[in-house]
Amino acid sequence: MCGIVAYIGQRNAYPVVLKGLKRLEYRGYDSAGIAIINHGLHVYKKKGKVAGLEDYLTGRNMESHIAIGHTRWATHGEPCDRNSHPHTSGDGKLAMIHNGIIENYAQLKQELLNKGHVFSSDTDTEVLIHFIEEIRNSNQCSVEEAVRIALKRVVGAYVIVIVDEDNPDTLIAARKGSPLVIGVGKGEHFLASDASPIVEYTKEVVYVNDYEIAIVKADELILKNITNERQTPYIQKLDIELTAIEKGGYDHFMLKEIFEQPQTIFDSLRGRLDAKNGQLTLGGIREYADVLKNANRIIIVACGTSWHAGLVAEYMIEELCRIPVEVEYASEFRYRNPVVGPGDVIIAVSQSGETADTLVAMESAKQKGAIILGVCNVVGSSIARLSHAGAYTHAGPEIGVASTKAFTAQLVVLCLIGLKVASEKGTITQQRFQHLLDELQDIPEKVAATLQLNDAVKQVADKYKDARDFLYLGRGYNFPVALEGALKLKEISYIHAEGYPAAEMKHGPIALVDEQLPVVFVATRDSFYEKIVSNIQEIKARKGKVIAIVTEGDQIIPGMADDVIEVPEADELVAPVISVIPLQLLAYHIGVLKGYDVDKPRNLAKSVTVE
Ligand code: M6R
Repeated sequence: MCGIVAYIGQRNAYPVVLKGLKRLEYRGYDSAGIAIINHGLHVYKKKGKVAGLEDYLTGRNMESHIAIGHTRWATHGEPCDRNSHPHTSGDGKLAMIHNGIIENYAQLKQELLNKGHVFSSDTDTEVLIHFIEEIRNSNQCSVEEAVRIALKRVVGAYVIVIVDEDNPDTLIAARKGSPLVIGVGKGEHFLASDASPIVEYTKEVVYVNDYEIAIVKADELILKNITNERQTPYIQKLDIELTAIEKGGYDHFMLKEIFEQPQTIFDSLRGRLDAKNGQLTLGGIREYADVLKNANRIIIVACGTSWHAGLVAEYMIEELCRIPVEVEYASEFRYRNPVVGPGDVIIAVSQSGETADTLVAMESAKQKGAIILGVCNVVGSSIARLSHAGAYTHAGPEIGVASTKAFTAQLVVLCLIGLKVASEKGTITQQRFQHLLDELQDIPEKVAATLQLNDAVKQVADKYKDARDFLYLGRGYNFPVALEGALKLKEISYIHAEGYPAAEMKHGPIALVDEQLPVVFVATRDSFYEKIVSNIQEIKARKGKVIAIVTEGDQIIPGMADDVIEVPEADELVAPVISVIPLQLLAYHIGVLKGYDVDKPRNLAKSVTVE
């Protein structure tokens, strides 16, 4: 949710920041802006994508050794040039970029208005930079000191980076709740919301902690806490390669990421699954194995696609471990004063590891004494750091806004956790344990086989791309897959789609069914098979169009459905990892056929860092 990039060093800063903004555009893309210092401070901003800003700046002198840049996902104020970042102080000498929300901005704004400040935007960000300016002027202090004082009053989440026309050799940055990575080069520093703008220049990075202020010069990085004590920057080595954040010949990141799944699932299993020897190792949760085994209850908190992975995990963990599991929308869990405390284990599931709703849910459960485990994709993310322990999904950077490979990696890791706990608790037979290890081992190959169906799915997409609504139905393990299929479709094709438990359909949504309505059934062969066959009949009896995802060799459903996609057979516990693949492809192709930017769907952002 908003991407920030900044550079200070010997290079020309503008191309570095512009390229960085393109890499971070998945975080928000309704407007973009850049500030440089070249005989004074210059700020350029434009509504729309980064490419629009680039066109606008073509031919200008953008020479500077310091720059800040921002790509926005609007919170306060509509997307327009005026509301775009960077925002400037009243005297025009300071420019600031910001990711996050200043919750008490209205109160601060009123105080500043009373003191005569004039604002030109509707944003909380402009209020904050004026507030910093006001403190600097009234205390006759440095910008660094003014930031420290200001942040003690600010309520909310932020990463800010400031350039000061009077100090063109220094960037001032601070964070609380939103991510900030600093790349350490030779005589240069790179600041960004994640490592993707940095990786091609340096592998050495510092993850700034909450309540830290960074004073960054070309050849010096000083970190201080909010009480002005020096902190030692902890330099870590990045383990991502440039190829992981480039399209690599695919038309879209989403398609690349769908096709990466055999490898990413393999990576999620690597070093953990040893099916040949019947072994399963999860180093990240080893110390909490007893806590999990003896948990009164497991509560999974997540949002969006990660919440769907949590729903599958509910079925898995209850079946394997006989521990009650609840799956909560993080945003609802936090604000309804839930009954939670010692003895409860929270599993927070998140691709980005920065989702604000999930973070606050974790924080509140932690305060109440629950143990928190994180299942995250982004290493070193806020959710990973807030967890007592956890397991990374190792799916690699996911750039497409619609989550695909992160979902299947989450399913795999949650299954490993369930199996580990079940084996320690003794709630699974050795035979079933071994069978599921074998099944997991075969998953990458079966996913690869499913991807061969791409052309067939594209044909189905072409046939139904003009439908106004879609219904997705599934039962048991495939019910969350139906939800996920519907979410994928609405996100990138803007077609209204609803996911439902197939049996629940007759309690209301069946009223929607007519000959215009495509109904996608996730109907692989499992314990619910006969029941879902009846549900298909019910749709056909009302002239609905049935698209069925079935197990290879199915003899019954193909005779009833209008279109059939056959996927490899798998145990029902791991089948969602396979059955979701055609749904990802279906959404992708419909989005592309309708001419939409599937990597950057309207109104969305990859990492939702506001509540
Ligand atoms: O990074 P997270 O997994 O915490 O993100 C949660 C949701 O915002 C995310 O899954 C969202 O629903 C995706 N756009 C789905 O494709």
